[in-house]
Amino acid sequence: MVSQDFLKELPKCEHHLHLEGTLEPDLLFPLARRNGITLPTEFPQTVGELETRYGQFKDLQDFLDYYYVGTSVLIKEQDFHDLAWAYFQKVHAQGLVHAEVFYDPQSHTTRGIPIEVVTRGFETACQRAEQELGITSKLIMCLLRHMDPQEGLQTIEDASRLLSSGSVHGIGLDSAERPFPPELFVECYERARSINPELQFTAHAGEEGPAKYVSNSLDLLQVSRIDHGVNSVHDEELLQRLAQEKIMLTVCPLSNVKLQVVSRVSQIPLQKLLDANVPFSLNSDDPAYFGGYILDNYYKVAEEFPHWNHEVWSTICRNSIEGSWCDAKRKNELL
Ligand code: HPA
Ligand code: ZN
Repeated sequence: MVSQDFLKELPKCEHHLHLEGTLEPDLLFPLARRNGITLPTEFPQTVGELETRYGQFKDLQDFLDYYYVGTSVLIKEQDFHDLAWAYFQKVHAQGLVHAEVFYDPQSHTTRGIPIEVVTRGFETACQRAEQELGITSKLIMCLLRHMDPQEGLQTIEDASRLLSSGSVHGIGLDSAERPFPPELFVECYERARSINPELQFTAHAGEEGPAKYVSNSLDLLQVSRIDHGVNSVHDEELLQRLAQEKIMLTVCPLSNVKLQVVSRVSQIPLQKLLDANVPFSLNSDDPAYFGGYILDNYYKVAEEFPHWNHEVWSTICRNSIEGSWCDAKRKNELL
C-alpha cells in the first residue's frame, strides 16, 4: 500500500463538494443561536447526539432531511463566507490545490435570503482561498431536483447576472435522485446555456438512480461530467462511452458507504472503472456529515485497494486534473 505521506503530497483536486455539507455540528449550534434560529424539536440537541445521528443514515433521503435543517442556520453573507473559508483552510492542510464546489441557492432563497448574498459570501471565500492559500476554485450552482423545475428555471433567471459575470462557473443538479430524472430539467439547462454558452454542466446521476439517469444526463442535459455515476458499471455500452468521451465521474467513497450505496469502500467499482479507462476523481461530498474530508477519502480508498501502486495513484491524480474546469495554464501548473 502507498504511504499516507505520498497521498497527502499528491496535488489533489476536488470536484464534488457541497459547501453546505461542510457545516460541522460544532458550528451548526452556535450559528443557530447567533441567528436566532429555532431547530425542530425532534432535532438532536447536542453536538454529540448530532454526530451520533450522522453515523446512522439509512439512505440519501434520510441524510437530506438533516442536511436541509443544517442549511437553515445560514443567514448572513458572513455565515456563507465563514463556512467556505473553514473548508478551504482544512483541505489546504490535506494537499488540496483546486476545488470545484457546489452550493444550493434554492435552499436559501426559499427562506428569503437573496441569491446574491449567498453567492457573494461563498465567492469572497473562494477569492481569499486563492490569495492566502493558493487554492484555485470554481463555484457550481446546483438546482434541487425535488423542487418544481419551473422554480429551477426561475432560479436560473434570478442568477442571470451571476451566470454571465463568471461568479458562477457551472450548473449542477442534486438532492433526491429518484424519482426526479434528468429529463425534468432540460429547459433549465438550456436556459442557462443560452444565458452564457461558456458555462460548464454536470449533474448527480447513478448514485441511487439507474445507469439510464447517467446516459440521459449526457444526452438530454449535455453535461460534460457526472457526479457519483457509480451505477454506470451496470451498462457496458455506457462505460465505453464514458471512456471514449472522457466523461469524468466524481466518485465519493465515504459518502457511498454512509448513505448505504455500498456496504464498504472496496465494493465501489473503482477497479472496473480503471480497467475500462473511465476517468474518475475522489471526493468528499458532504464531509461534515460523512466523517471525512478529501484526504480521508484518499486514505480509505488506499486502504481498501492496497494493491494500487504509485502509478495507479498518479493516473487518478492526472485524470482528476485533466477533468477539472480550470484553464490550460492552471492545469499545466498542477500536472
Ligand atoms: N446527493 C444528492 N444531493 C446532495 C448530496 C448528495 O450526495 N449532497 C448534498 N446534496
Ligand atoms: Zn453530492
